[in-house]
Amino acid sequence: MERTNLGRTGLQVGVAGLGCGGSSRLGTRTDKSRAESVTLVRQALDLGVNLLDTAARYGTEEIVGEAIAAVPRDNVVISTKARLHEDGAEAPHPPTALVEGLEDSLRRLGTDCIDVFHVHGVLPQHYEHARQNVVPALLAEKDKGKFLHLGITEYASVDTGQTMLVRAVEDDCWEVIMVAFHMMNQKPRQRIFAHTRRHGIGTLNMFAVRDIFSKPARLSDAMRALAADGRVPERFATIDDPLGFLVHDGGATSVIDAAYRFARHEPGVDVVLTGTGDSDHLRANVASILKPPLPAEDLATLRELFGDLDGVGLDPPNPASRS
Ligand SMILES: NC(=O)c1ccc[n+]([C@@H]2O[C@H](COP(=O)([O-])OP(=O)(O)OC[C@H]3O[C@@H](n4cnc5c(N)ncnc54)[C@H](OP(=O)(O)O)[C@@H]3O)[C@@H](O)[C@H]2O)c1
Repeated sequence: MERTNLGRTGLQVGVAGLGCGGSSRLGTRTDKSRAESVTLVRQALDLGVNLLDTAARYGTEEIVGEAIAAVPRDNVVISTKARLHEDGAEAPHPPTALVEGLEDSLRRLGTDCIDVFHVHGVLPQHYEHARQNVVPALLAEKDKGKFLHLGITEYASVDTGQTMLVRAVEDDCWEVIMVAFHMMNQKPRQRIFAHTRRHGIGTLNMFAVRDIFSKPARLSDAMRALAADGRVPERFATIDDPLGFLVHDGGATSVIDAAYRFARHEPGVDVVLTGTGDSDHLRANVASILKPPLPAEDLATLRELFGDLDGVGLDPPNPASRS
């Protein structure tokens, strides 16, 4: 596995990371047994993945804990999160709730120190509370050695213009951020990565594939709607396989292969998360992330066609598995 620096954290991470949330949640939301989910995490480690991203919300921390129980702790980078608010609630949680969440995560993961602890899915209206009240409380826990690096993740399907992250990257307390960036959502290049690269903030890329590139009908519907709004050329309203131009000799082998490679080679992306409950998908996705960039002419076409789109393909999680 190719390794890289996670920003200025000093952590060396594989460029492919395992997402233990999303719609798949390691298969716990589909047909997989707990033992199969544990095996999937171990398969990722065998493939050279060392960063595992989970969250209290996903219900997969115990699975990660079981999978890494016999692994030397230094061989794994654990990223986990505590929510700042519950869906539908106006008020965010007080700092004590996140400190308790940190303790619960440590217990479920079976470790005494988490590598990256994030404030999870922060809405713009809660950011100042996070910065002023939650950060000092969490940094006190960091000083006690409960975690190593503080992170923040966006609520991409709600904050589609990324106003929270645009604000957060101006502050120096966040050592890692998690950001939605993909072939049809390229705006983070200017508004996020320009800042994270300058300040050495580590980046975890989510939504590289999500629904829009894994469900052909979802992509066709999105293209029809964008064409109707004049946001992509009219011909995309009727093309059956709108991103088929990426699949050719010397190019990508599939739209999913293209999507992971696109994210992986974006300057400013440290780790591309792949979220799956399927062992064959995991193997294929890690292989895609390790492949070379897409051909320059395909990248230019993606930029020309989709570079100005904003807020596209930021699919909310499957209702059964909010992440
Ligand atoms: N705000 C936040 O903090 C937040 C929000 C969202 C996500 N995340 C993190 O980011 C991670 C990545 O996001 P994501 O889980 O949405 O991952 P993703 O890799 O962008 O997309 C995963 C989706 O694509 C499907 N898929 C993956 N590989 C495939 C393949 N080779 N062929 C066909 N379908 C394939 C998966 O289904 P299968 O199971 O069938 O493979 C799943 O439905 C999450 O797991 C979570 O750790 C964080």
